[in-house]
Amino acid sequence: MGVAGRIIMQLIPVTPRFVVRWIASRYVAGPDLASAVTVMQNLAAEGACFTIDVLGEEISNLHEVRFFMDEYQALLDAIVEHELDANISLKPTAFGLLIDREKALENIEMITRKAAEHEIFVRLDMEDHRVTQSTIDVVHAMHERGLKNIGTVLQGRLFRTLNDIAALSSQAEGFADVRICKGIYLESGDIAHTGYRDIVEATNAAIDSLLDSGCYTAIATHDMPVINHSLAALESRGMGPHADDPREHVGHWAAGKGRGYEFQMLLGVRGNIRRRLAAQGHVTRVYIPYGRRWYEYSIRRLRENPDIAWHIAKSFVMPWTNRR
Ligand code: FDA
Repeated sequence: MGVAGRIIMQLIPVTPRFVVRWIASRYVAGPDLASAVTVMQNLAAEGACFTIDVLGEEISNLHEVRFFMDEYQALLDAIVEHELDANISLKPTAFGLLIDREKALENIEMITRKAAEHEIFVRLDMEDHRVTQSTIDVVHAMHERGLKNIGTVLQGRLFRTLNDIAALSSQAEGFADVRICKGIYLESGDIAHTGYRDIVEATNAAIDSLLDSGCYTAIATHDMPVINHSLAALESRGMGPHADDPREHVGHWAAGKGRGYEFQMLLGVRGNIRRRLAAQGHVTRVYIPYGRRWYEYSIRRLRENPDIAWHIAKSFVMPWTNRR
């Protein structure tokens, strides 16, 4: 699989942009907010809710933050205007985290405060290991400023994740809300698991730990061994779509959330599994990336993890493995 992904990656530079655009159109809602709203209005009929991401990542100077500030404010207005069941996802490095921490905190606070006025949750996507701790620290800083409508992502592949769960759950006093995923960045063997099986086991252990420590647990995966483990873990704890969250000491940010947990999937990936979970009554949230930087986003994701190129190729050649 790794080899196939790498071969596909070598073909990308010679692939015409319109072909990349056509492929990306399955995974990116469109170049602007209006196209993202249309995609969500259509998907809402499948019982999905959403988390919306404005494409673009690490900025090289603070002037670039303006674009993200304006776009996220327009996005929050659109969620309210169109009454979308949606929250937002943002990348702290797009708000200046690696350039000026105080400025980044100020920017993220402004967006989070506006979101709180409309009971909208803010998710800080987790980027690579350079910003793991500083992203978690942003959540603590916002909680200290009285904003509880914010949480981040932890990556099952990182060795540190179980410790991060313990620290987050004890410091957030019932407001810890974590998206748990395998982690898209291929980190070194010094700090992370690198083999598929180890990553699945570590991710499943992290899910157990989140559930046991009272965190709101957003399970972000398309992988059946992780989904099946999660369903069994929920059941064994008396949690599920038709039961109130039985755990003590939880004070989750409630608006639009599930009963202590939810499933999350990327736009365009394994929709049949998502629809099945939704039909069983689980809250299912679709990650909706949009924006004019779709090309850079697509290429960067592929570079970070060439296996994605293989997943995409597979869904064209063997469409039954990944239904929209
Ligand atoms: P796995 O990679 O084994 O995929 C299982 C199957 O799903 C594949 O065989 C394929 O059919 C399909 N599939 C998975 N990904 C696909 C893709 N991109 N295109 C086409 N098919 C695909 N990571 C991170 O580091 N920080 C973050 O903040 C986030 N945020 C996030 C949000 C949401 C909602 C999701 C679903 C995922 C993330 N991730 C992430 C990415 C995550 O860490 C992980 O890289 C991917 O979800 C792939 O891992 P799976 O568990 O899906 O398994």
